[in-house]
Amino acid sequence: MAVTVKNNISWVGKVDWELRKFHGEELSTHRGSSYNSYLVREEKTALIETVWAPFAKEYVEELQQEIDLYRIDYIIANHGEIDHSGALPELMRLIPETPIYCTANGVKSLKGQYHQEWNFQVVKNGDRLNLGKKELIFIEAPMLHWPDSMFCYLTGDNVLFSTDAFGQHLATEKLFNDCVDQGELLQECMKYYANILTPFSSFVERKIKEFASLNLPLAMICTSHGVVWRDNPLQIVEKYLEWSAGYRENQITILYDSMWDATRKMAEAIAHGIAEEDGSVLVKIFNIARGDKNDIITEVFKSKAILVGSPTANKGVLSAVAGILEEIRGLGFKNKKAAAFGAYGWSGESVKMISQRLAEGGFTIVNEGLKLLWNPDEEGVAACRAFGRDFSHASRQ
Ligand code: FEO
Repeated sequence: MAVTVKNNISWVGKVDWELRKFHGEELSTHRGSSYNSYLVREEKTALIETVWAPFAKEYVEELQQEIDLYRIDYIIANHGEIDHSGALPELMRLIPETPIYCTANGVKSLKGQYHQEWNFQVVKNGDRLNLGKKELIFIEAPMLHWPDSMFCYLTGDNVLFSTDAFGQHLATEKLFNDCVDQGELLQECMKYYANILTPFSSFVERKIKEFASLNLPLAMICTSHGVVWRDNPLQIVEKYLEWSAGYRENQITILYDSMWDATRKMAEAIAHGIAEEDGSVLVKIFNIARGDKNDIITEVFKSKAILVGSPTANKGVLSAVAGILEEIRGLGFKNKKAAAFGAYGWSGESVKMISQRLAEGGFTIVNEGLKLLWNPDEEGVAACRAFGRDFSHASRQ
């Protein structure tokens, strides 16, 4: 069902209440999501993005109830990823001649996925498309989230269509940011940024500054996932500037997995040591194997420092620890400190391996880590507390 966004702009997307995993099984989406598609009906009509492939048929049927498809003059493909473009094959089967406006990389991505010679119209930064009294201005936004991504801006209404940027995985019947639970909204925005956009933070900052330099008024931001930012849209832009600049709160997060509890005991004793040294720091502990990977990554994003623990198993680390270390390495967090710990019975390689992996991920490693033989006794627990105090002290600087 279409929803009026502003004047001649309608939302014609799909709310996906059932979605619990995104990017295959990589990203948890506890609160569902939406695939936002917009119809702009001026003298000329533009359709901005479509929806994820499983909803293609449903989407096109509903779109047909809203508009005669032959009245769509232009399709704007801001981003080729399948959650944005997945309904194009179904739509283009019905209106095969309609031009698709996208970046040069957009053509590569759409052709690569759908193998169709559609009527692609390549646009570059600053190009304009006349809709009558209003225009769409195209703003290339590579790496937000793919090399093909672009934004477009509707003059007159002063609306930015920002594709993935400023989005969040949040299903809602209330389309607008001022109509949803604000705590949930912020949490989902941060999780989305932490898990998807962190590697592209330098692009985020540059693009926001470039957009600001255009001096275009901003009344609304229409993202491709979650809410439309109509109430103070700059609030999410300001958050992005904060998050892209090596974001950290006064939090230390301890991540571990454990076979027979020795590494868990170490984690808890280290946490006590941290609190002894600095009562103001927020300490959180997560068993990686039992927590949600993406929620834990969001906690890492908030942290000024992290500790990662694993016992040594098969001359390495436990598989849950290996998995999250790979994720952390790829995200490339900035401005964070780290150290490793773990129990061992025989060879004891895990601590060194964790430290190396964290260093590859851009963390500043503050010490050689702490490894304890077998289960920590009183002396071992005391060593963990001292380690926690030292780590807390080092994290203050
Ligand atoms: Fe919403 Fe990059 O996909």
